[in-house]
Amino acid sequence: MILDGKKYANEVKLELKNKIDEIKKIYPEKEITLSIVLVGNNEASEIYVRNKIKTCSLVGIKASLIRVDETITEEALKEIIRKLNSDEKVNGIIVQLPLPKHLKEQTIIDEIAEKKDVDGFSTISKGKLLSGAEAFYPATPYGIIRLLKHYNIDMCGKHAVVVGRSNIVGKPMALLLLNENATVTIAHSKTNNLEDYTKEADILVVAVGKAKLITKDMVKENAVIIDVGMNRKDGVLCGDVGFLEVSQIASYITPVPGGVGPLTIVYLLENTIKAFLKQNNK
Ligand code: GUN
Repeated sequence: MILDGKKYANEVKLELKNKIDEIKKIYPEKEITLSIVLVGNNEASEIYVRNKIKTCSLVGIKASLIRVDETITEEALKEIIRKLNSDEKVNGIIVQLPLPKHLKEQTIIDEIAEKKDVDGFSTISKGKLLSGAEAFYPATPYGIIRLLKHYNIDMCGKHAVVVGRSNIVGKPMALLLLNENATVTIAHSKTNNLEDYTKEADILVVAVGKAKLITKDMVKENAVIIDVGMNRKDGVLCGDVGFLEVSQIASYITPVPGGVGPLTIVYLLENTIKAFLKQNNK
């Protein structure tokens, strides 16, 4: 069965829009505002940011885009973030990644005030996730948890194998699955005999950025397959999982596109609404 992330994301968008309409009745003079800092002209980032702005306007969030030249210094970029931190009209701040090589990503992100860190990428937010405290959770792995719950897929006691250990997806994914009482294994691009691990997965999450890495013989029958990959192969968009062959034996599988991708934006926007409500003592 296909896990239709696109359809589910559209349902959540509608819920967010209704929620925002209610909030606007309570705070008619205020706007829920997300500031997006985009450094340079990375082609993929341009597309992601355009989609974020489009979805913001669809649900009624004000998106303000701050474009900066790729030659900006670390200190100048931090100063932009500090100004956004102290601007009461700004509820959430994200710095689109990746950044140009001369900028240290974690150092820049750690300048974002915790209460506005709606990507959940700062050291403080990640530490809170690790220790089980309330925090803004990174939208892609959190969206995956919500998608699994939406389809009533039980995680408790299941063996979840996460392939990939990025700060944005793999590591927070493993922690969120652990919070759901799954038994979690983290594998990655340097794991020896990867198939020994993937074959044992009841729930397999793949986020390594290697087109069609996971083949049918690497997957257990009736496993749940979550494909976070976004690769371009011969001009065609495909995931990290060979969809056609693996879908023959999986119980559930996300397609690419239309699986995990659409969820990232909606949970970023849900975090932005939460930030607004918190900042207004709700
Ligand atoms: N680059 C790729 N994914 C993301 C994301 O979710 N947030 C930000 N800020 N940058 C990204």
